[in-house]
Amino acid sequence: MEKIRVGVLFGGRSSEHSISCISANSIINNLDRKKYEVVPIGITADNLWVVMEDKNPFLNLTKTDLPEVTKEGIQTNKAIKVSQTPPDELISLDVIFPVLHGPYGEDGTIQGLIDLHAIAFVGSGVLGSAISMDKTTSKALLKVAGFPVGDFVTILDSQWQNDKANVLNKVKELGLPVFVKPARAGSSLGIQKVKEAGKIESAIEEARVHDKRIIVEKAIEEAREIECGVITGEGKKASRASLPAEIIVKSGHEFYDFEAKYLDDSVDLVVPVKLDKKVQEELQEFATRVFDFFNCEGLARVDFFVTKDNEVLVSEINTMPGFTSISMFPRMWEKTGMKYSELVDYLIKEAIDRPVGLH
Ligand SMILES: Nc1ncnc2c1ncn2[C@@H]1O[C@H](COP(=O)(O)OP(=O)(O)O)[C@@H](O)[C@H]1O
Ligand SMILES: [Mg+2]
Repeated sequence: MEKIRVGVLFGGRSSEHSISCISANSIINNLDRKKYEVVPIGITADNLWVVMEDKNPFLNLTKTDLPEVTKEGIQTNKAIKVSQTPPDELISLDVIFPVLHGPYGEDGTIQGLIDLHAIAFVGSGVLGSAISMDKTTSKALLKVAGFPVGDFVTILDSQWQNDKANVLNKVKELGLPVFVKPARAGSSLGIQKVKEAGKIESAIEEARVHDKRIIVEKAIEEAREIECGVITGEGKKASRASLPAEIIVKSGHEFYDFEAKYLDDSVDLVVPVKLDKKVQEELQEFATRVFDFFNCEGLARVDFFVTKDNEVLVSEINTMPGFTSISMFPRMWEKTGMKYSELVDYLIKEAIDRPVGLH
């Protein structure tokens, strides 16, 4: 049997560069070399493409390592080819797994590039990726479609430049506290919880360093944070939701911020979670409906708040969720009955079976 040539893309320009390297490392280490020929392709923060030698294990990481792709490779990995543009190797691949988080990776840009080459790839296409990446667009669409979401205000660059007083008035109507966020970031980068009216403007300016499009959300207080994995169903059947999981942020963090996500032990990821059966079913149904509505494919993680009164609110959708061996997405599927390596196999098969281009 001929081996499937799978290219794993990682790193990239976004501030989630290192997280992407860690996710890709887990995926590369879980690919069965009897079945796959693995071509690791790192992208540096300044956009060089680095085709690397396959090694198993790929990287030897300790828990708090934040690896970086450089033109010499990554850690001890010997770079075999560096190019300014996508390398020729790309077109010889059977399938690409773009394990990229954040802008220029999870937002439809890479997906468009791969689509133009008519190569199969894991995950959502241009539309699903772009909508899901942009919190202003996705929240507005969710609201219009009747999904339950919290109150929010979106701020376009032109509104901030030309109509700041009016924008700040609308934000004040949300009450306090609020969460100020860049529209297209991730890993909680650029996000602030603001409890005083006098600090809203500076929080918006700080978020604008990440993205000129901003969303301000009313804080959902005393709610549980529940996440749910979704994958495209087998044989193009209806999309499937995993068992949900809960994030419990322990003391020392106001919310699930970057440090809590990656750098300390302040968070418990609980799966499966204790939820009222009806609430769980409702949440899983919302998860698959959001996935379908946004034209997502392959995989996504849909995040929710569940209030004290058991009201389910959609928070956000991630089309390339964290994929390290301890990340929520693979752990939820493991509890649902699909081991890490089976999940990776499944996603690659689904990508190969899917027609390329518009479908
Ligand atoms: N409206 C909100 N109410 C309460 N907590 C929030 C709200 N928005 C965000 N948070 C907190 O901030 C974290 C990061 O926000 P999120 O929108 O998920 O951004 P990211 O895409 O960076 O993960 C959430 O996991 C949650 O802990
Ligand atoms: Mg989030």
